[in-house]
Formats: sequence, structure tokens, C-alpha cells
Amino acid sequence: MKNFTYHNPTKLIFGKGQVEQLTEEVPKYGKKVLIVYGGGSIKRSGLYDQVIETLGTIGTEVFELAGVEPNPRVTTARKGIEICKAEGIDFILAVGGGSTIDCTKAIAAGAKSNQDIWDIVTKKVGVEDALPFGTVLTLAATGSEMNAGSVITNWETNEKHGWGSPYVFPKFSILDPVNTFTVPKDQTVYGMVDMMSHALEHYFHHDTNTLLQDRMVEGILRTVIETAPKLLNDLESYEHRATILYNGTMALNGMVNMGYQGDWASHNLEHAVSAVHDIPHGGGLAIIFPNWMDYVVDENIGRFKQLALRVFDVDPSGKSDRDIAVEGIQEVRKFWNSIGAPSKLSDYDITDDSIEIMAEKTVIARSEYGNFKKLNKDDSAAIFRASL
Ligand code: NZQ
Ligand code: ZN
Repeated sequence: MKNFTYHNPTKLIFGKGQVEQLTEEVPKYGKKVLIVYGGGSIKRSGLYDQVIETLGTIGTEVFELAGVEPNPRVTTARKGIEICKAEGIDFILAVGGGSTIDCTKAIAAGAKSNQDIWDIVTKKVGVEDALPFGTVLTLAATGSEMNAGSVITNWETNEKHGWGSPYVFPKFSILDPVNTFTVPKDQTVYGMVDMMSHALEHYFHHDTNTLLQDRMVEGILRTVIETAPKLLNDLESYEHRATILYNGTMALNGMVNMGYQGDWASHNLEHAVSAVHDIPHGGGLAIIFPNWMDYVVDENIGRFKQLALRVFDVDPSGKSDRDIAVEGIQEVRKFWNSIGAPSKLSDYDITDDSIEIMAEKTVIARSEYGNFKKLNKDDSAAIFRASL
């Protein structure tokens, strides 16, 4: 375990009816509020009306940016930045999933900068300030509601990059499981794959003495494995939606990975796939992650063996450590397939023709990536080929 400082300033407001808390939280930051949301799910669910009505009771002046895309685009963030600057917005409220929140983070940082937001996303310039913002989360997946990261896509260059800054922690996030009832089955699955992938990214490292961290990460994985089939049978179960919502936040708010550095190669690989093909993040991860595991298993068989034994209860009798490790990887694949996640790039009509361009995208930011095992462009191509 390495030295660390942990500071997560996001106020987490969880449970049924908590949208009402907007009346307490929003006035702390001002009167002029920009609401940011996606393609209309919040209008269909009634959440939009509820938020507008609630803000009306405290005399908020509401501005809107609708239409944030899944895999949010830099062009949309620029529109939001323009509104903030033109209207003198005091506070931004993201109402939606990870894409809406990530776009809001870009707007918040861009609104306080004279530089183009893409230069911030690509880390050419730093973040020096940001408008305050809060979130009302509608989809359990990314953890963006309680972290300082954001992922933005540029369709002019086919690049999708993660960036972050302590300035873009949400001031508060409201998580009412009821607001996730309408998430369709496929997105529910992608979200669960995503949170499990965050846990798995943490899990693959070479640090020692991470006993509690390992158990917390394993706890997230086991909880999702136990809950997923029940939730998929009953999408409006408050109990299971609450379990999954809490898991998604915990998997990527820094709580379970203090004192060591996880891998994150699979995320880099997936971002390259969706930068070229605009596929759902969780769908891409379900395909890529097990193939990354196959590719790097010999780097530290002990970690893979531990995963197999502790998370998937693989029976070790008569098997070598490597056999156990490999069986664990098969269990990951099997579980994701069992809940309906895709398993091959061809499920998204992605063929051999894209491998070179996707591999190039994995090394735009740096020539090598991944902490558990350093990978280069050729490794990316090999993993993509195995994923076809
Ligand atoms: O746009 P609307 O109409 O709202 O529909 C969305 C969208 O089509 C729909 N949806 C969301 N909540 C719903 C709902 N439909 C019905 N009922 C609801 N309650 O779901 C679709 C997907 O939404 P999106 O926000 O794109 O999903 P997610 O939360 O999975 O976010 C994915 C984005 O986050 C990035 C991904 O790369 C991707 O761009 N990530 C962000 C991270 C972070 N900031 O920490 C980490 C992750 O690893 C990830 O990379
Ligand atoms: Zn992710």
C-alpha cells in the first residue's frame, strides 16, 4: 500500500424522494441554473417536470441544454459553455446518466476558461476553475456522479478521451433508485458491466498489502453478480435498483482503491472502439475486458487465481494455478454473456477492417498504456483481433 490522500467532496444524497433536496442545495450556489440532459428519457419518465417544478418553488431562473448524446460530444459541451458565458449562469444541474454528467463537467470547466474545451480534454491546458454543478443521476454505471473524471468524444478527429480535475467533483449528487426504473434492460446490463469493469480495473495491480481494498472490490463484484439476474427479472424492484445504484457509485469514487494504482488498459481499448464506432461503453467493455485478461494472465497469475477463487468460487481441486486463473476469466465472460452483454466486436458489425485505426486510437495520448502490463499499439491490435 502506497501513501495516499483521499478527499472526495461530493455530497451523496441517496433514496426515494430525494429530488426534493434540490430546494436545499441549489440556492447555495445562485439563481441562474442551466439544466443539462440527454435525448429525452427524463421527459418520458416525468423527472424533468418534477425537477422544473421543484426548482420553481425556490425561484430559480432555468436555462436548458438538451440532447447530450451517449458518448457525449465536445460540440455539445461547447454549446453549454456558450450559454453559461452569455447568460451568466451560477450553477449547472445535470439530470441524466454518465454522458450528461461528463458533458456537464466539461461545460463547468469550459465556462471558467478562455481556452477551447477540447484543449482541456486533451490536457494541452489545465483546469483552473469550474462553475459549481450538481447531478440527479438516472442510470447506474459510470460513477461520474461522485468522481472528478469525464470522458468526451470528438467526432471531427474520432477521439474519445478521459480527463479530470478536482474542480469538477459534483457539489452534490441525488441518487433515487426510482429514477433508474425506466432504464431499459440493455442499458441496465451495460451499466452493470461498466461498474464491474471499474472494480476489475482496480483489481489488477502488483501492489502488496491491499487486503481490505481487495475485499471491497470483490464485494462489489459479488454483489453485482448476485443482484443482476434478480434485477433483470424485475426492472422496477426498488431493492435491486438501489443495490446496483450504490454499487456503481462505490466502484469509481476512489473509496475502494486507496493506496494503489489499477490497470485501466481495457478502458483505453474500449474508448478507442467507441471513438470509431460509437458503441455503448459497457457493451464494448464486455467484449474487450475478458480478451485483455487472456492476453495478460501470465503477468500475475496470483491475482487472477484470487479472482477466480474469491469471486467466482472456482473449485481448485486438481488444477494448476494457471488453470484456476483461466477458469476465472471464463467465468467473467460467461457471467456477462448470461445477462445478455455482447461478446464479440462483430456483434456491433465491427470487422477486421477497423483494427488498425482503433489500435492507433489507443496510443494517441501516450505510446504505452496500462499499469498492470504496459501495452503498445501492436498489443492493442492483438487484443482487438481476439475480440472479433
Ligand atoms: O439521453 P437519454 O434520453 O437520457 O437516454 C439515455 C441514453 O440513451 C438512457 N437513459 C439514461 N437514464 C435513463 C435512460 N433511459 C431510460 N431511463 C433512464 N432513467 O441511457 C442511454 C445511455 O446513457 P449514458 O449517459 O450514455 O450512459 P452511461 O451512464 O453508461 O454513460 C456512458 C458514458 O460515460 C463514460 C463512457 O465512456 C460513456 O461516454 N464514462 C464515464 C466515466 C466517468 N466519468 O467516470 C467512467 C466510465 O468508465 C465511462 O468511460
Ligand atoms: Zn467504465
